Amino acid sequence: MGKSSYPSHLLAVLLCVLLPLYLALRGPASLSDISFVLSSLSERVESIRLTLASPVAGPIAPTPQAFEAAAEPAKEVRRSVQDGRRKRYPSLPDGLAHCINSFEQYPFLAEQVLQRKHARYAKQTPAQKAVGDKLGYPAHFEKARDGIEVNSRFAEQIAQAARVSYHTGSRRLEDEDDAEFGVVDLAFGHLSRDWSSQGAKERQAVFPPVMAALEQHFGGKGRGNRVLVPGIGMGRLASDIADLGYDVTANELDYSSILTYHFLANHTSSLHQHKLQPFVTKWTHQANPSSRYSALTVPDHWPNKAVKLVEGDFLEMFPQEGEFDAVVSLFFIDIGNNVVDFLTEIHRLLKPGGVWINLGPLKWGTHTALQLSAEEVLELADMIGFDVDHTSRRSIDSLYAEQPETLLKFTYGEYLPWPCE
Ligand SMILES: C[S@@+](CC[C@H](N)C(=O)[O-])C[C@H]1O[C@@H](n2cnc3c(N)ncnc32)[C@H](O)[C@@H]1O
Repeated sequence: MGKSSYPSHLLAVLLCVLLPLYLALRGPASLSDISFVLSSLSERVESIRLTLASPVAGPIAPTPQAFEAAAEPAKEVRRSVQDGRRKRYPSLPDGLAHCINSFEQYPFLAEQVLQRKHARYAKQTPAQKAVGDKLGYPAHFEKARDGIEVNSRFAEQIAQAARVSYHTGSRRLEDEDDAEFGVVDLAFGHLSRDWSSQGAKERQAVFPPVMAALEQHFGGKGRGNRVLVPGIGMGRLASDIADLGYDVTANELDYSSILTYHFLANHTSSLHQHKLQPFVTKWTHQANPSSRYSALTVPDHWPNKAVKLVEGDFLEMFPQEGEFDAVVSLFFIDIGNNVVDFLTEIHRLLKPGGVWINLGPLKWGTHTALQLSAEEVLELADMIGFDVDHTSRRSIDSLYAEQPETLLKFTYGEYLPWPCE
């Protein structure tokens, strides 16, 4: 998720300007429907029914490097998003060395975070420090170091697995300058949402509606139907859909997610095998002194190894038109540079009669070319050639990769999908 993910440290308690959205979009030849549900905190329940058919956008040029691999990272991957970093490892896909380095360097990076906190603490007057001492504040530094040690073991295992998979050799990359604390910190938060028991509440808010819409569309007969899940993050939704019997292709471009998912899928011999304390350096918004040290274990469920992971940019990795019976996107369409490209590509990849199921906010980044309202997204879908039938709607609130005990809850309001016809 790296730089393109949702920062969980954002503003406001229980606040949301939510542009929840559910779309179920079927392919062009079927002249089928979209179920779309729109509401916000101030405006609820408003349904839109559209029946549309218009020319399909032209196919996107094939990418020769497209590949698939069953949860095992492939050796040659291309990533279209240039991150501007120098290429010290020219043989590796862009962003990969940076992520391996970040996992490798986690102990030092996390220690730096602690030292910055300590420097602020140490600057106090003796009288101020005495108050901190009374509160037992200095103990936090030691406890946090214990947690960092736990996390470091896990991070190093991820880096080690990556070095083997991508043939960088068993030696550490050791590039301190190309490492970023946030890469690992975000990965841990998202891992908690997807693969720990503590993340179940967040998952329960958004996974079941998506999966119910899928089941409704295919009449509960998943087997044989090809489903693409672009931008899988840590991959739990893709895995759960595969558990229903669908033939799932997952796609992700960010290596912090890819490496972590790969590690979980291929280096886990028992459930709850890996322990981490993902919030150990987060000292804000804590409910009590110990909440920052809460430990969790992953995975709480077996990653489905039948999921095929395609690494790279969703817009470039699927040369074949009409490949999928369904595309399922969760917290995804607002993340790219241009939503027109995303919707056009989803449309192109669907078979006639296929369905697109989407759930997530419209939290456009400042880098995006268009920051559309939900209604405009629908209009866009219309222009691209989806057939829309919006039958009903209701809204839900959902958190995203939040620490369960945090006092800060950034809530996304979304639209729950109702089955499309
Ligand atoms: C907000 S996260 C959501 C992840 C996941 N769907 C979930 O619900 O947890 C968006 C994900 O999309 C990925 N992503 C963004 N642009 C992408 C692209 N062009 N191709 C593939 N993945 C992309 C990001 O790396 C990130 O993991």
